[in-house]
Amino acid sequence: MKNLVILISGRGSNMMAIAEACAAEGWDARIAAVISNRDDAGGLAYARDHGIATAVVDHRNFDGREAFDAALAQVIDGFAPDMIVLAGFMRILTPGFVQRYAGHMLNIHPSLLPAFPGLHTHRRAIEAGCKVAGTTVHVVTPELDHGPIVAQAVVPVRPDDTEDTLAARVLVMEHWLYPRAVRWWVEGSLAHTDDGRIVHRGGEPQSLFEGS
Ligand code: GAR
Repeated sequence: MKNLVILISGRGSNMMAIAEACAAEGWDARIAAVISNRDDAGGLAYARDHGIATAVVDHRNFDGREAFDAALAQVIDGFAPDMIVLAGFMRILTPGFVQRYAGHMLNIHPSLLPAFPGLHTHRRAIEAGCKVAGTTVHVVTPELDHGPIVAQAVVPVRPDDTEDTLAARVLVMEHWLYPRAVRWWVEGSLAHTDDGRIVHRGGEPQSLFEGS
């Protein structure tokens, strides 16, 4: 049984989607803990209500990223994690932290990487005149919003889309995509190619399209 530790900073809807899929689909895994850098993160209440251990490591209590990441790692390691799942965790991680969990940490980012790393992805996609937008699950590497892509989901950008309407449609896709990607990892279905890409061993589609 694999121990998943999920890091959140806010509402935690992706964390909930993963927890629900894990239970409903009977993964050989458990959510060992949900950890947040904010004590007001909405997702913490869901975790507590579902008997999942929670912890808060408030970044404001630390003098710099190194000290915060060291404290965070200590708390994470207390839950004997096999995998760290970043689900709306809005902190830039130090290279040392990323290295500690190298190959064992996934992130979801609300754009079709490598386009639009960083913040305000939906606004930037609309402003750039993009006709599609979406979300990416990737292995975390020291470079922000970078790293081998596990899966992507695509939605059309409609002419009347606002940042909020686009974000809402992408989020629906995230709730399909992220549990699927985490399950693949739990099952051991993902393989690295020699040139550093990630493929599904059984050939399951690593792309999802709205409406399909
Ligand atoms: C999600 O849309 C996720 O892609 C994004 O934050 C949202 C969290 O929502 N993550 C990032 O922007 C990370 N760079 P949630 O708390 O409801 O899961």
